[in-house]
Amino acid sequence: MPNWLNDAVFYEIYPQSFYDSNGDGIGDINGIIEKLDYVKGLGCNAIWLNPVYDSPFMDAGYDVRNYKQVAARYGTNDDLVNLFNEAHKKGIKILLDLVPGHTSDTHPWFLEAKKAAESEYSNRYIFTQNVWDAPPEYRMMCGLCERNGNYMVNYFSSQPALNYGFYEITHPEWQLPCDHPDCLATVEAIKDVMRFWLDKGADGFRVDMADSLVKNDDEKIATAKIWRGVREMLDEEYPEAAMVSEWCSPDRAINNAGFHMDFYLDHFGNGYNILSRCGDWGDKAVFNPNGKGNIKAFADEYLPAYERSKDNGYISYMTNNHDMPRITAYLDKKAIKLFNAFIFTMPGVPFLYYGDELGMRYQKDLVSKEGGFSRTGSRTPMQWNSGKNLGFSTSDEPYLPVDKSADAPTVENQQNDDDSIYKVVTDIIALRHKYDDLKGNGELEFVYEEGKIPFFYRRGKLVMFFNPLGVESEIKTNYNGEKLYELGNTEFADGKIKMSPQSFVMIKIN
Ligand code: NOJ
Repeated sequence: MPNWLNDAVFYEIYPQSFYDSNGDGIGDINGIIEKLDYVKGLGCNAIWLNPVYDSPFMDAGYDVRNYKQVAARYGTNDDLVNLFNEAHKKGIKILLDLVPGHTSDTHPWFLEAKKAAESEYSNRYIFTQNVWDAPPEYRMMCGLCERNGNYMVNYFSSQPALNYGFYEITHPEWQLPCDHPDCLATVEAIKDVMRFWLDKGADGFRVDMADSLVKNDDEKIATAKIWRGVREMLDEEYPEAAMVSEWCSPDRAINNAGFHMDFYLDHFGNGYNILSRCGDWGDKAVFNPNGKGNIKAFADEYLPAYERSKDNGYISYMTNNHDMPRITAYLDKKAIKLFNAFIFTMPGVPFLYYGDELGMRYQKDLVSKEGGFSRTGSRTPMQWNSGKNLGFSTSDEPYLPVDKSADAPTVENQQNDDDSIYKVVTDIIALRHKYDDLKGNGELEFVYEEGKIPFFYRRGKLVMFFNPLGVESEIKTNYNGEKLYELGNTEFADGKIKMSPQSFVMIKIN
């Protein structure tokens, strides 16, 4: 287990929207290099970079055409190596995005696989044995190739599934077992991509749809086995490299598959929704001041998973990511501050999505860009200052429009505002670095009354009390001590703490 993870705080950078250094309207790698001091100033010491590889951008780069080539619009491979080096000089690690489940349908492997003539790539993807065979239980693209067969897709239609085999074989005419040499070759091809970037200085990978490799593998037994092998390779060859999975099942991802970290995501499971947002849960979010939330529902899901996985890896909370509406779509400013106080004081390895430190807004009505659809509104350019395109780009045609509101938050105006979300985020991250009890593997004792808010938890000598409700509330507790951080007003007396509406306090007990 790389030691650095225990004190890691990640910043997710969506490269096309972060900073455009050459005025072409699209964010680029040199732009990220220019802003490394900003990232460091947040207290983030690691970056997750969304895909920067050559791609036709039907899914914003998650449709990879060449895993080993940086997309020209972001720069060159040398620029990326330069980013690794400059980041390392500042004590910042860089995780690239690994997309192992599928490629673009323009990837050279696929161009070969779809030909009638057999080649070493014929089994790199999943094809049926003829075009008349398209079992409805699979997502197939039919009749599009010279080859007499239909192929399975993993996500959008432009993303054919790579072939890691089938755990349960239901159609032996075309489904290969996982130990077929051609399926093993797919695993080796992905390991080769990993080695390529790790050798150049990358510190690891965020792994896209990590659970999607082997098909008909409901319990994810064969998929986990593949990742276990990858982890063994890392332990042996790159012991400081780390992997975080998009899986949201710590039992499977951390305990079985060997991931160092697993995301706790909004759109899987219930836990995170209960905290913040999404669909039906917006109203029932624990941090919604309306009090309809239920901390017990969250704790019942999270705590057992945490207990079972904490000796093997970290659960990663995130403020948001590029796939979900920004939290500003669901919660008010005070609630967002409390939410951040929670994310950055819980165990595990936290992730901050670019712009969330400013309270950037979800831009609801944008036309879809590069396969973003409803996600497009969370992918708009970073808001730096009051200049053209809020400092993102000098181009007349930025990648996406910036927030047009007169009061759009920017780095410049938030850094100078003592009441800003930025201030809370940076203050709490600084406390996380300062106190060992707040780090990734520090202990956790979660205290809540059945189904009730407010709630509190203790991490070593530090105790965090939250009153997300829009009304004054009391919590019974015998804890008392020095206040390290406070939002709103909190008063300790006679075995209880009185908390003003939407308040938070962190204390250090003696
Ligand atoms: C999850 C990624 O986060 C998302 O943006 C992408 O569209 C899909 N995986 C497919 O790769």
